[in-house]
Amino acid sequence: MYVLGIESSCDETGVAVVDTGVLPVPALLGQALHSQIQMHQAYGGVVPELASRDHIRRVVPLTHMVLEQARLTLEQIDVVAFTQGPGLAGALLVGSGYACALAAALNKPVLRVHHLEGHLLSPFLSADPPVFPFVALLVSGGHTQLMQVNGIGQYVLLGETIDDAAGEAFDKSAKLLGLPYPGGPELARMAQSGNPLAFDLPRPLLHSKDLNFSFAGLKTAVLTQQKKLEAAGEVSPEQRADLAAATQAAIVEVLVKKSLKALKQTGLKRLVVAGGVGANQALRSQLNEACARRHIRVHYPELSLCTDNGAMIALAAGLRIQAGVAKPEFDYSFKVHPRWALEMQ
Ligand code: KG4
Ligand code: ZN
Repeated sequence: MYVLGIESSCDETGVAVVDTGVLPVPALLGQALHSQIQMHQAYGGVVPELASRDHIRRVVPLTHMVLEQARLTLEQIDVVAFTQGPGLAGALLVGSGYACALAAALNKPVLRVHHLEGHLLSPFLSADPPVFPFVALLVSGGHTQLMQVNGIGQYVLLGETIDDAAGEAFDKSAKLLGLPYPGGPELARMAQSGNPLAFDLPRPLLHSKDLNFSFAGLKTAVLTQQKKLEAAGEVSPEQRADLAAATQAAIVEVLVKKSLKALKQTGLKRLVVAGGVGANQALRSQLNEACARRHIRVHYPELSLCTDNGAMIALAAGLRIQAGVAKPEFDYSFKVHPRWALEMQ
């Protein structure tokens, strides 16, 4: 079965096609992505209306590129899958509307996909795919969650952020440091030459008994340090790099410690890291080191599949079909879920 996947929840238009006839994981036959980063950079963040309009412009040509790569015609597509949420309402509507209209025209069924399930399952496309059950650390621009994953569609929330997401903490701190959007990768680059011990930044909820996170206070602490530096004279590139390194260290330490706590609590020996912040090298090396000492296996998506893409949506749909937990439907009415808990689907 050929499944076309459409992703349009935020600032990336992604399209991909998988073949569910290949086991144990559907084969990725083609994928194409357009990132809107450059367009939003001028505004310092995602402008929802511009995002929607750009998705409209990109989704059709990307679909044709993917079909060409996969050497398939539109008529050969068996199921059209799309991200129904969570994300920006207008952006989601573009992908949903396009997917439903395309499927209706082709007289093929549709399958609605949860964006976070796409992230969660994306490591199954890597050279070192995980096996169930595992703990998943989902760290994106909008979400920070620890889940126990027992199988496809079997997700138990262990803990989540009570305010900002880890990606948001990276982005907001980066903005304070004068870095362009999206700040996460920029801050990480700047942190490479900095000393993480130069500033003492808070690690909220680090020692709390639960598995929740809180990152909202971090940006205030970064702002306070920045103001102190500015009051003392011109801030040097070295000082900015130190502050970036200290910020990254604070976020990474909390993510690593809470992940280890979740593994201990569940007794599981496998961790999957997914979402944009999963591309962070400091997070990867510290998790690798801490997990190796405890004989815990860690799995990541390919770097290119950490941030939003269509492959993870086509894959999640394909895996759900293979596992028999979702049935594509001939129902072309579409309603998006800008806020949507993964366990609720
Ligand atoms: O998963 P994603 O592409 O989009 C959402 O679903 O939110 O994640 C985007 C987030 C942004 O906050 C971005 O700054 C962050 O992931 N990010 C990083 C890195 N690459 C992307 N944060 C830290 N270090 C990175 N290397
Ligand atoms: Zn995402």
